[in-house]
Amino acid sequence: MTYQAPSTKETHSIVTIDVSPDRVPRHIGIIMDGNGRWAKQRGLPRLAGHSAGTEKIEEIVQAASDFGVKVLTLYAFSTENWGRPSTEVSGLMRLVAETLNRELEAMKQQGVKFQHSGSLAEIEPDLAQLIRHGVEETKENDKIVLNIAFNYGGRAEIVKAVQEIVAAGISAECITEALIDEHLYTAGLPDPDLIIRTAGEFRLSNFLIWQAAYAEFYSTPIFWPDFTSEHLAAAIRAYAKRERKFGMIK
Ligand code: FPP
Repeated sequence: MTYQAPSTKETHSIVTIDVSPDRVPRHIGIIMDGNGRWAKQRGLPRLAGHSAGTEKIEEIVQAASDFGVKVLTLYAFSTENWGRPSTEVSGLMRLVAETLNRELEAMKQQGVKFQHSGSLAEIEPDLAQLIRHGVEETKENDKIVLNIAFNYGGRAEIVKAVQEIVAAGISAECITEALIDEHLYTAGLPDPDLIIRTAGEFRLSNFLIWQAAYAEFYSTPIFWPDFTSEHLAAAIRAYAKRERKFGMIK
């Protein structure tokens, strides 16, 4: 069966994946890497790379949705990213705020359910409120979940889960994987089937480290600002050929 998604705005070509629906990953996580190198190659400031990277998000969400993906988690800002220069941090915060303001109406129309994984406690109150508002306004949508990992760290997420469980007075013998799942930011979402990392790196970098236990990993040398729906289709095709055994024998 063939699925079609509009390609880049420039070409308006059609991208097909030619993958049967049961081989399409339900949940894809993307580590959007290479913005800085993309900018450096062009003699531009790093923020220009983040800005170009932000511009790609709409195309990739649309393509993922058209390909039949149900959840797309994008790693937008890690708990470690606070260590970057303050101009880069504030620039990233501004980009997220501008994008949410600009795209909320389109997300509502296109059936995108916006979610957030991470802590809002350290986020400037207006932006935190904007994120909460986006989540609330799109909560009835069901075409695709766009989960933004923002001020997110996988280890911090597990610590949070353990703290909540202990605070609830739950005894040791009642602690199960399912219970920990319920206390993660991603509670209610399926585990990622496929993790894509751009810019040629092969690391998880604290991204969905619990949830990705059995995810397939795909690395592409393409820098995130150059990543298109065709690259996403290629990753899905590669995933569809993998044999997943979940530790068992076929
Ligand atoms: C990694 O590239 C990228 C980031 C740390 C930030 C990614 C964020 C965006 C694309 C903006 C997100 C916006 C919204 C609306 C969710 P890098 O800077 O580490 O690249 P480098 O390794 O080449 O230096």
